Amino acid sequence: MTILGGGGFRVPLVYGALLGDHADGRVTRVVLHDVDAGRLRAIVRVLAERAAGVPDAPEVTATTDLDEALRGADFVFSAIRVGGLEGRADDERIALAEGVLGQETVGAGGIAFGLRTVPVAVDIARRVARLAPDAWVINFTNPAGLVTEAMSRHLGDRVIGICDSPVGLGRRVARVLGARPAEAWVDYVGLNHLGWVRGLRIAGRDELPRLLADPVLLGSFEEGRLFGADWLRSLGAIPNEYLHYYYFNREAVHGYREAGRTRGAFLRDQQAGFYAGVADPAVPALELWDRTRAEREATYMAENREAAGAGEREAEDLSGGYENVALALMRAIARDERATLILNVRNRGTLAALDGDAVIEVPCLVDAHGAHPVAVDPLPGHATGLVCAVKAVEREVLDAARSGSRTTAVKAFALHPLVDSVNVARRLVDGYTAVHPGLAYLR
Ligand code: G6P
Ligand code: MN
Repeated sequence: MTILGGGGFRVPLVYGALLGDHADGRVTRVVLHDVDAGRLRAIVRVLAERAAGVPDAPEVTATTDLDEALRGADFVFSAIRVGGLEGRADDERIALAEGVLGQETVGAGGIAFGLRTVPVAVDIARRVARLAPDAWVINFTNPAGLVTEAMSRHLGDRVIGICDSPVGLGRRVARVLGARPAEAWVDYVGLNHLGWVRGLRIAGRDELPRLLADPVLLGSFEEGRLFGADWLRSLGAIPNEYLHYYYFNREAVHGYREAGRTRGAFLRDQQAGFYAGVADPAVPALELWDRTRAEREATYMAENREAAGAGEREAEDLSGGYENVALALMRAIARDERATLILNVRNRGTLAALDGDAVIEVPCLVDAHGAHPVAVDPLPGHATGLVCAVKAVEREVLDAARSGSRTTAVKAFALHPLVDSVNVARRLVDGYTAVHPGLAYLR
């Protein structure tokens, strides 16, 4: 298994999941690739400490040579961040200066991040097709839906996008309904970071109406507090937490503007401290990583929770399960162990409003042949409208990345429901191209 972005902070989570897998066909060799050798060294240290005492721990090697990393891989995990966390902070800052949201996957920030990530992701996809034609690519790279679609144009259904937010949501809804997550069918669909739970079936009964009718239950979990009982009842569904940026956009933008530091700026500083710390051999690497991870998780979406008066995250929600989705997906493919997972795959006919090649986020049956989307009920009109609008934006981003057209980039920003003027879109393109070397291709 090859991990692109192998010097990334969440790699120890993935490796930790591998350490717990002792069955036949498990991953025995991990190749970490990163453009930054220092970050690779830091993560290799954390992994070595994590593997201590595990006799069958997967062997780890690291390289800065992309082709060497890819050659002959069975699984390629892509979790890269083009432009680094400095780039994420710039995405936020420039959008907020225009009074619009700069989140890394939603709105103007997501478009800027997508515009500089897609060309790199496409290059990776082409190399995988050439050097590891039998590999399955698991894409974590945000904005995950858009990036998966870009890669699918070269890799077809051999690239699968993953995100832990629908899994976390399904788990929370099952928990408040008193069900074990494994015994519940979560009826969820949409795009990445833009989906809705419309039902939760246990033994043939939809239990979601019971939740929607009960204010105490609704107040007892993250999305209930974030969106408020009244709005969830109006929707008749539980939205992915990222829809807070849409439904409460004004408050979210306000919260981000008021915050001393944006999320990207906070993580940039936090992570710089971690990587500098681990460079000192006297510092216990795993301990520092774990402390840094706990702080990152505790502060996730803090501005949104504060804007909504939602309070602190619950202890059970702190480990997102990111690594478990990845491991479950790999096991299902490698061992033909059937599993149902919410994944980012090509639509085929699942959502009638979108064409067959549009990547959507939907429950899939996974086996040795890949991820097969399950038929779902149509979305209501308001949700279809949002999904179509955002997919149209993604398509403009993909076009701009292919043609290098600045005009198309402006169109992508201008068509986004959270960008409120074509003039704002024009200034955003000026602002982003001025700071991001990765956008120099836009002419
Ligand atoms: C959630 C999202 C991911 C995101 C992660 C970390 O799990 O689904 O897409 O990468 O949170 O967010 P953070 O703000 O800590 O980078
Ligand atoms: Mn995600």
